[in-house]
Amino acid sequence: MKEQLRSIEERAKAELKEISDAKVLEEFRVKYLGKKGEITGILKQMGKLSAEERPAMGQLANKVRADIETALSARVSELKSAAEQVRLKNETLDVTLPGKAPAIGRPHPLDAVLADVEEVFLGMGFEIVEGPEVETDHYCFEALNMPPHHPARDTQDTFYISDSVLLRTQTSSVQIRTMEKMKPPIRIISPGRVYRSDAVDATHSPLFHQIEGLVIDKGVTMGDLKGTLELLMKRLYGDEAKIRLRPHHFPYTEPSAEVDMMCFNCHGEGCSMCKQEGWVELLGAGMVHPKVLEGCGIDPNVYSGFAFGIGLERITMGRYNINDMRLLYENDMRFLEQF
Ligand code: DAH
Repeated sequence: MKEQLRSIEERAKAELKEISDAKVLEEFRVKYLGKKGEITGILKQMGKLSAEERPAMGQLANKVRADIETALSARVSELKSAAEQVRLKNETLDVTLPGKAPAIGRPHPLDAVLADVEEVFLGMGFEIVEGPEVETDHYCFEALNMPPHHPARDTQDTFYISDSVLLRTQTSSVQIRTMEKMKPPIRIISPGRVYRSDAVDATHSPLFHQIEGLVIDKGVTMGDLKGTLELLMKRLYGDEAKIRLRPHHFPYTEPSAEVDMMCFNCHGEGCSMCKQEGWVELLGAGMVHPKVLEGCGIDPNVYSGFAFGIGLERITMGRYNINDMRLLYENDMRFLEQF
């Protein structure tokens, strides 16, 4: 029996060295130490021994079992630390390798120019207000002195939700909403999307952006309008930027003007960029029509003011020399990454 125990111990220890798998280790434990295992098998035969032999044999059997248990747990921790080593090795980081540059986004050119415009106006004490893109006929046209059959509506066909609800064609609607809510002095700009039923080409899109401006106070003049716009253009395009006001007609301003900027490619000489005109049209503006003021409850005998509407696409294209409006909407990274 002694020999049997010795040989069990030897076999077990030799076998253990070869095992490197958790499942096989468990099989090993069952085989040697389990209820039906080899050691238990020996203990069951103890009955055959004499009363004198039994205690020594019992002790030996317990020692062999304890030794195998110790060897087993030693093997278990050996395997665990080997696995840990492998894991650490796999996770080793070579800090001398070149890193992966994270792709950092940047503002879209339209957003970048809008942010600059907003900064200029905030610096002059303007507030930024927003108005709805889904608008009523009243705010988009009627309150701006464009009754239902006014011919000025023809140039601003849009998308109708019902007879009286539509996608706004101009941010001028926000002038009315603002004058209804705020008392003079008023100094606001209102950037946002506008819509027109236009076919897409290099200078047209059914969705584009405007920045509306409105100033109402006592004694506001056309000179204030010109000074304000001149400052904006110098900030956007540099100190050599020059603007001119050309007489025009808008139903909601009197007098009205279109504002051109001197072509900074040819400085007024005429070139292909300005279609040989020397000037580039930038925006519409004027002194707010007395009828519009009155309609909003502002007394035109006490207050006066100016308004303007800038096309964000146009000033962005001018700033970066972009010759096709579609580039601004196509989200082509090769284009956008240049800004
Ligand atoms: N709403 C005009 C347009 O979409 C632009 C404009 C002209 C705005 C004159 C104004 C203005 O505020 O006074 O073409």
